[in-house]
Amino acid sequence: MRPVADYGLEFDDAEHERLRRQAAGVDLLDEDLIAAAGLLPGARVADLGCGPAAVLLALRERVLPGGRLWGVDADPEMVARARAEVAGLPDVTVTEGRAEESGLPPGSMDCVFVRLVLQHNGGREQAIVDHAASLARPGGAVFVYDLDTTMIRVQPPSAPVSELGDRFLDYQRRVGNDPAVGVRLPELLATAGLDVEIFRGQCRTGRRTAGTRGPTWAARKAMVAAGVADEDDLVRWAREFEELDAAETQPWTIGVVFAAIGRRP
Ligand SMILES: C[S@@+](CC[C@H](N)C(=O)[O-])C[C@H]1O[C@@H](n2cnc3c(N)ncnc32)[C@H](O)[C@@H]1O
Repeated sequence: MRPVADYGLEFDDAEHERLRRQAAGVDLLDEDLIAAAGLLPGARVADLGCGPAAVLLALRERVLPGGRLWGVDADPEMVARARAEVAGLPDVTVTEGRAEESGLPPGSMDCVFVRLVLQHNGGREQAIVDHAASLARPGGAVFVYDLDTTMIRVQPPSAPVSELGDRFLDYQRRVGNDPAVGVRLPELLATAGLDVEIFRGQCRTGRRTAGTRGPTWAARKAMVAAGVADEDDLVRWAREFEELDAAETQPWTIGVVFAAIGRRP
């Protein structure tokens, strides 16, 4: 397992399962958002930074019959996993490529989806949204979805989850990413020349599930490489996770997700 270029989270089966769970139902896809995004039967949809295709498969449910989907990811392992997930589906194509230069035909998509990608692309956020806008047909939509990780809380603050969260913020800033990119989604769409139709945020609460480690743990080696943690921290956090897993009551996790839709004039 190795860290992915542009994506400090190490990818393994646990991370794949986390993304699957996270994509279940595709967060924030309220019916008015689905309609505004043009996620209707027959639609042509691109998913830039598609990961292991969990979201592609959820979107596919919305555009059948007659829909067509393209997923693009920069990481060959993600592409391999995504291709395995969509094997045998004639209406889904997954290619290796960059979210800011996908190679997909310009002006051809009813909806371009960019979910949880911008937070890993410090300095390239606008280039990615500009490219997404260029893929949308006139009247088509760009659907961007991201977090403000500065708003994530663990209550009561609990080792090692709270500390890992703080270090992950340090890591994101150190490598030039914007942990608060979620609140900038409308600006990114407007700068790309799109009419911003919807900007929505939603607070999520839930108890931590014992045994899970989450995205900050998946970024631990990248954090060491970036100098915001060391090997002793990793050993201590591993021990503290085991202690927390054994606790009778798990803390609450609280986060905020954002979605915005821009329409190409
Ligand atoms: C957190 S995962 C999200 C996957 C999927 N969009 C979802 O919501 O489940 C981020 C994905 O974006 C990909 N990625 C990050 N930056 C990228 C870029 N500039 N071009 C293409 N893929 C990128 C990573 O390889 C990874 O698969």
